[in-house]
Amino acid sequence: MPTSSSPRIQHPGLAQKIMSAAEAAALIPAGANIGMSGFTGAGYPKQVPQALAARIEAEHAAGRPFQVNVWTGASTAPELDGALAKVNGIHQRLPFQSDPICRDKINAGEVHYLDIHLSHVAQHAWFGFLGPMQVAVVEVLGILPDGRLIPSAAVGNNKTWLEIADKVILEVNSLPPIEMEGMHDIYYGTAIPPRRQPIHLTQATERIGEPYLRVDPSKVIAVVQTHQRDRDTAFAKPDAVSNQIAAHIIDFLAHEVKVGRLPKNMLPLQSGVGNVANAVLTGLLDGPFDELLGFTEVLQDGMLELIKRGKMTAASATAISLSSEALKDFNEHIAFYRDRIVLRPQEISNHPELVRRLGVIAMNAMIEADIYGNINSTHVMGSAMMNGIGGSGDYARNGYLSFFVTPSVAKGGKVSCIVPMVSHVDHTEHDTQIIVTEQGLADLRGLSPRQRAQVIIDKCAHPDFRPLLQDYFDRARSKGAQHTPHILGEALSWHERCLATGSMLP
Ligand code: COA
Repeated sequence: MPTSSSPRIQHPGLAQKIMSAAEAAALIPAGANIGMSGFTGAGYPKQVPQALAARIEAEHAAGRPFQVNVWTGASTAPELDGALAKVNGIHQRLPFQSDPICRDKINAGEVHYLDIHLSHVAQHAWFGFLGPMQVAVVEVLGILPDGRLIPSAAVGNNKTWLEIADKVILEVNSLPPIEMEGMHDIYYGTAIPPRRQPIHLTQATERIGEPYLRVDPSKVIAVVQTHQRDRDTAFAKPDAVSNQIAAHIIDFLAHEVKVGRLPKNMLPLQSGVGNVANAVLTGLLDGPFDELLGFTEVLQDGMLELIKRGKMTAASATAISLSSEALKDFNEHIAFYRDRIVLRPQEISNHPELVRRLGVIAMNAMIEADIYGNINSTHVMGSAMMNGIGGSGDYARNGYLSFFVTPSVAKGGKVSCIVPMVSHVDHTEHDTQIIVTEQGLADLRGLSPRQRAQVIIDKCAHPDFRPLLQDYFDRARSKGAQHTPHILGEALSWHERCLATGSMLP
C-alpha cells in the first residue's frame, strides 16, 4: 500500500509503489548483484542500504547466511558501504570505494573487491562480463508524469543500472533543489561492439543527450521517499606541501602556454581527489589563466570556486560532491551553476575517446612512484588496498598531459614516496609524463628510462632519500641490462624494511 505521495512523484503508477525502506529492502534476494547509485559521496541511496543492512544483521543472528554483491558508480558513504560492510553483508564490491570499514574487510580478505577503471564498469556490465544484475537501487530527485527520472547529484552508472537490472528500487530524495532539473546530460547513443559509433562530443561542456534517465515503469518494484543530504565532503585547506606542489604545476603550465604547447586558457582540466588536487585548483584562482574548462569526474569545492569567481567558464563531470559551505552556495545560486555545469554518465565523463579528443590535462594523486615513472595509486606496501584506481587511469593514459603528484615522503618522513621499484603498478611508465612532489617537478616527456630516473631522483626525491636512490641507480647501472637498470633482489627491499621496522630508512 502506498504511504503518502509527494509532488516529486508524478507518475500515477509509480506513486502506487511507494513503500518504506524496510519493505523495499525485503524485496532484495540474498546473493543478488545490486547496482547502486552513488559517486564520490554524492547521489547514493540513503535508506534502502541501511534497511538492507538491518535485514542482513537479523538474518545472520538467526543463523542464515545473507550477502550481496554491490556495484556502484564510485565511493558512497557510511549509510551504504559502511552500513553493509559493518554487518558483513558484502560478498563482492566494485568499483572504487573509500569507506574505512569496507577497506578493513577488503584487506582482511572478507570482501572480494574488483578495482575496475571507472570508464570500464558500465560497458563490462553490458558485455555480460560481470553477470546479471537482479536489482538496481537508484536515488533520483523526482519522477515525471511519463515515468522519466530527474537524476540526482551523481549520474555515475545509473543509466546502465536502470537498463540492465531485472528490478528497480527508486529512492526519491526531496532535499536537493528540484532546480537541478536540466543540469544533466544523459547520452543514450552507446552500443556494444561491433555496432558502436563515434560519440559526437567535441567541446567539454557540449550537450549530446537528454536531461532525464529512462526506466521501464513495469520493472520498478518500490519507490522510497527520502529527505536527506549527501555526505559532507569536507574541503581540506591546502597545507604548505600541497601549496608547493601546486606552485610547481602552475609554473609548468604557464611555461607550456609561453612556449605555445598549450592555448592561453589551457585545455580542459581533470582533477583527482584529495589535498593536493584542492591546492592546485585553489592555486589556479590567482593563476594567470582565464576562461578555463573542466572535464572531470567529480566536481568539488575547488572547481566550484573557480566557476564562481569566473576563472572557469564551465565544467563537465559525473558528480558534484561538496562541503556544507559550498553546498549552501550551490543551492542558493542554482540557476547560475545549472548554466555552467553538465553532469553525465561516468562512461562519458571518463571516456578515453573523449579524453583524448579534448586533450584533457589530467592531475591525479598517488601513493608512490618509482625512479622510472611507474605509479602505484592504490596499494600500501604492495598488498593493502587504500581506495582504488578510480578514474585516474582513464585520464592518465589518454590525456594531453598527465601529472602524478604526491608529497615526497609519508608517515612523518619514514616512507619515501619515490622508491626504486613500486610495490604495485596502476599506471605504467608509458602513461606518466610529469611527476611532482614539493621538492620539484620531473618532466619526463621525451626521455628514455635512464634519463627519467636521473630527473626523478634529482627533482622529486626527498633529501633524506635522494642519496639512497642515487646509490641504488648507480649500482644498477654497473651491471646487467642497461635499458631499465635494476637490482632485482634489492628493488623492493625498501618496502620489506618498512614492513619490518616501520621505516624505509636504513
Ligand atoms: N606509503 C604508505 N602510505 C602512504 C604513502 C606511501 N608511499 N603515501 C601516502 N600514504 C598514506 C598517507 O600516510 C595517508 O595515510 P593515513 O590516511 O593513515 O593518514 C594516506 O596514504 C593518504 O595519503 P594523503 O597524503 O593524505 O593523500 P590523499 O588524500 O591526497 O590521497 C591517494 C592520495 C593516492 C590515496 C588518493 O588520491 C587516491 O585514492 N587515488 C586513487 C584514485 C584516484 O586517483 N582518483 C582520482 C581520479 S578519480
